Amino acid sequence: MQPTSSYAAAHAASLADPAAFWAAEATRLPWDTPFAEALSQDENGTDRWFRGGELNTSYLCLDYHVAHGRADQPALYYDSPVTRTRRAYTYAELLELTARFAGGLRALGVELGDRVIIYMPNMPEAVVAMLACARLGAIHSVVFGGFAPHELAVRIDDARPKVLICASGGREFDRVIPYLPLVAEALAKARHQPARVVVSQRDFVPAELLPGRDVDFLALLQAAPVPAVPVPATHPLYILYTSGTTGRPKGVVREHGGHAVALHYSMRAIYGLAPGETIFTGSDIGWAVGHSYIVYGPLLLGCSSVLYEGKPVRTPDAGTFWRLVADYRASVLFTAPTAIRAIKKEDPEGRLAQQYDLSSLRALYVAGERCDPATYTWAADLLGVPVVDHWWQTESGWPMLATARGLAGAPAPRAGSAGHPVPGYDVQVLDEAGQPVPAGTTGLVALRLPLPPGCFSTLWQDEERYQDYLRPYPGYYLSGDGGYRDAEGYCYIMGRVDDVINVAGHRLSTGEIEEILAAHPAVAECAVLGLADPLKGQVPAGLVVLKDGQTIGEEQLERELVAAVRGQIGALACLRQVLVVARLPKTRSGKILRKTLRQLADGEDFNLPATIDDPLILDEIRAGLVRRGVGQAFSAPS
Ligand code: COA
Ligand code: AMP
Repeated sequence: MQPTSSYAAAHAASLADPAAFWAAEATRLPWDTPFAEALSQDENGTDRWFRGGELNTSYLCLDYHVAHGRADQPALYYDSPVTRTRRAYTYAELLELTARFAGGLRALGVELGDRVIIYMPNMPEAVVAMLACARLGAIHSVVFGGFAPHELAVRIDDARPKVLICASGGREFDRVIPYLPLVAEALAKARHQPARVVVSQRDFVPAELLPGRDVDFLALLQAAPVPAVPVPATHPLYILYTSGTTGRPKGVVREHGGHAVALHYSMRAIYGLAPGETIFTGSDIGWAVGHSYIVYGPLLLGCSSVLYEGKPVRTPDAGTFWRLVADYRASVLFTAPTAIRAIKKEDPEGRLAQQYDLSSLRALYVAGERCDPATYTWAADLLGVPVVDHWWQTESGWPMLATARGLAGAPAPRAGSAGHPVPGYDVQVLDEAGQPVPAGTTGLVALRLPLPPGCFSTLWQDEERYQDYLRPYPGYYLSGDGGYRDAEGYCYIMGRVDDVINVAGHRLSTGEIEEILAAHPAVAECAVLGLADPLKGQVPAGLVVLKDGQTIGEEQLERELVAAVRGQIGALACLRQVLVVARLPKTRSGKILRKTLRQLADGEDFNLPATIDDPLILDEIRAGLVRRGVGQAFSAPS
């Protein structure tokens, strides 16, 4: 079957016969061993893609392009205002570094299936480390550099890496962050200890290496280059931890085969890119967006990718993203709405954009949270190109809803909507009973199985928890998001229906923050709410009830709890406000009414839940919120 170039036909074909659709897409990649069946089921009843086939993602990203005329094309443009560095790496150079570093890792004992944790900022060495692991069939797990030692320790214990690769440090605006003390603290907390720690030294923050344990990144590059090891299509490429509803993160497992096929397709069909073109994804390699569209997607298709180490603002100004587009002639810019809001706040008239030649830009893509219509319109007016809000999750690894600009006839994007289902995805909106709801009705957003290639096939060593996504409504994957589809088929993702929040495009668990607050000796119980924030989308705020007899002052407690969350999760959690309340509103069966509390704090209208045990508590809490300036608790319940 030839892939069709029409959006409607492609989407219909992908649902009518998923195996045939993706088998055809898979033939675009060079396989070491052809797959037996495109789609089959494993012993857990989980759909698996391309079993029997063998390939290697590092080969597809590097060797293949070097052998096919792209040796001298830039693969990466590293641009780091925070370290005042700019450097392009051609495909040949990136291959040489990766093959040598893989040789160095192998000399440290890293083999097929071993795990390697990478704790680094956006820097070329991190990309080399990822691709080198892939080359050996080792499984990398990148941990976002902003996570505190506790979070790193949790991931070390879950993934049990043979080697940990880190930078000596990073820079946040002008603040230098040495990583080795954070690694030391994490290793002191972790039960599992990696055999070796590989350190990439940065001249602004040299680290002292621990003899016997630590190895210099550069020393590994002295090794002889090694070829890519063909691995089964279903072999894990990476584990990426993401927040669930508890303090224990979920290790999303991505496989070599389906991932390569899906990302190759998405680069063309969704982003409308061709080999040789440039994409700039303003995200971090620690997130799914960074994995897929800074590193793997662009390299799989033979594009050039801008690897940016900095912020959208203040490094040095709100024109940085526009400079990057202009300097590298990017055809596509992809970032989070919060980054656009940060730019808009500092440069409301968009004057800085006028200083640059943005004629290469064909579209701006945003994801990570819903793009509010005001931000959407501002960006569209400023840039004069389509703005595409598209919806995805760490679990999917690539967009589920979008405007597939690479396919003919895809309906034009619309402010507030995340677009239409991407080929491969059967997106449905269900009611609580699992029945599809009519157009215009809000419900639970779910995907009808099978999930297309590239989506996770399990959670690392936690199949039981993976099944939690599938158990509630047999035949569906439950996304955790709520939303609706309008009469014209446009889909709207309106926010999480569980205890996950999005803070500046970072996915956090209110349950995890609650566990930290509840561990304070003065706290009897608590609720953490994700409140609306004009810049970050949402920020957490805590409501705590003191244990009997506790006399700690509210501000003192707030300071201690803010420090605890910062110390355990990281500064990115952004918990700044904690309010002491006499009681929390509960149902008669004892469940805290978190949604009602959030609506109250955000000043939204809400219906008083019929099951509330004591409605008067809400008035007390509202008074407290107003007194402390938390949220927008001004309106009364209706
Ligand atoms: N290492 C160490 N600390 C980090 C960090 C990192 N990699 N990333 C963030 N932090 C710290 C920040 O320094 C800040 O610390 P502070 O409280 O001491 O000031 C805190 O975490 C909060 O960071 P952030 O929420 O990023 O706020 P900010 O003011 O620094 O920047 C934005 C705001 C909007 C510019 C920024 O959040 C952003 O670019 N967001 C886009 C996120 C994104 O790309 N997500 C991926 C989905 S596409
Ligand atoms: P993450 O796994 O970190 O990528 O976060 C996934 C979550 O971010 C989703 O479940 C949504 O809640 C939210 N999200 C991502 N993209 C969008 C979007 N375009 N519109 C609305 N919410 C989004």
